[in-house]
Amino acid sequence: MFIVKMGVLAVLIFPLLLFGISGIIYIYRAVGRLMSKSAVQNKVVVITDAISGLGKECSRVFHSGGARLVLCGKTWEKLEALYNALISVADPSVTFTPKLVLLDLSDINCIQDVAKEILDCYGCVDILINNASMKVKGPVQSISLELDKKIMDANYFGPITLTKALLPNMISRRTGQVVLVNNIQGKLGVPFRAAYAASKHAAQGFFDCLRAEVEEFDVCISTVSPTFIRSYHVQPEPGNWEASIWKFFFRKLAYGVHPMEVAEEVLRTVSRKKQEVFMANAIPKAALYIRTFFPELFFAIIASGVKEKQKLEFPPPERYP
Ligand SMILES: NC(=O)c1ccc[n+]([C@@H]2O[C@H](COP(=O)([O-])OP(=O)(O)OC[C@H]3O[C@@H](n4cnc5c(N)ncnc54)[C@H](OP(=O)(O)O)[C@@H]3O)[C@@H](O)[C@H]2O)c1
Repeated sequence: MFIVKMGVLAVLIFPLLLFGISGIIYIYRAVGRLMSKSAVQNKVVVITDAISGLGKECSRVFHSGGARLVLCGKTWEKLEALYNALISVADPSVTFTPKLVLLDLSDINCIQDVAKEILDCYGCVDILINNASMKVKGPVQSISLELDKKIMDANYFGPITLTKALLPNMISRRTGQVVLVNNIQGKLGVPFRAAYAASKHAAQGFFDCLRAEVEEFDVCISTVSPTFIRSYHVQPEPGNWEASIWKFFFRKLAYGVHPMEVAEEVLRTVSRKKQEVFMANAIPKAALYIRTFFPELFFAIIASGVKEKQKLEFPPPERYP
């Protein structure tokens, strides 16, 4: 009898343990999420390209956290649609009506005026989230220099011009945070992404230098670098327990993370003033390590992959969503 009881206990102990640990993790995350949200309450938060997959999710989490949002984007209709979506679900007693600002970051000449318009909204900016970015893929020789420059404008000169225009306000108030949404390609060069990776390396370098320069003014610089953000529509609904477990163990490795997960990481980065975040699984992290400590091995692995790919005819360069 005693042996049977011990057997039943042994069988039950593992699921109970798993259940207990999952419960603790769930509560820990819920408390963390609440604390992160309260940290952005009343803060003036500017999001560039608020209409992209990640931009929309960032807008949603910061809006529901009670931030005073300034949403920037290239297309007025898309900004209005986002505005309507946000205010239709929000509790007006704990949220602020977002302000909308038209901004094309590759149009460098108009950024000073846009920065003034942004500052006029609330008189200050507490948090700037540099999210906008333009992508291109293709072999180097098939991408025109004009396109290379456009990518550099949208991904490097645009964000740094806006940051430089808003920085004096943060420095004079001795508070502020600038977040760069970057990509692991800001640290690792990947073939057929030369222009994009170069612009992301440039932005990473700029913000790493700036971090040290503005620390004495209590302005915090953060970079958040995901590997691959899954297309907005395909991921299983977050909150679905079974789907989340499955996603956690398998899908994240294969298909990247949902924009909502990245947006919550951006919120955590802001509330905890983290300096650098990599959202990568073991393989890209190992690649970064190999690139740093065994560069020749890294180059050999990458080159062998390219030889395989070049056997296929490359389509003409294209922007991809
Ligand atoms: N997707 C990924 O796998 C991935 C991985 C790592 C990091 N990231 C980073 O995450 C951020 C958000 O990416 P995402 O995937 O959410 O974007 P996305 O959904 O792919 O959309 C790209 C967005 O950029 C906008 N855009 C392009 N050029 C612009 C410009 N000059 N000025 C203003 N907006 C411009 C586009 O607007 P239009 O549609 O109107 O052209 C579009 O809304 C980017 O910084 C990206 O580098 C993405």
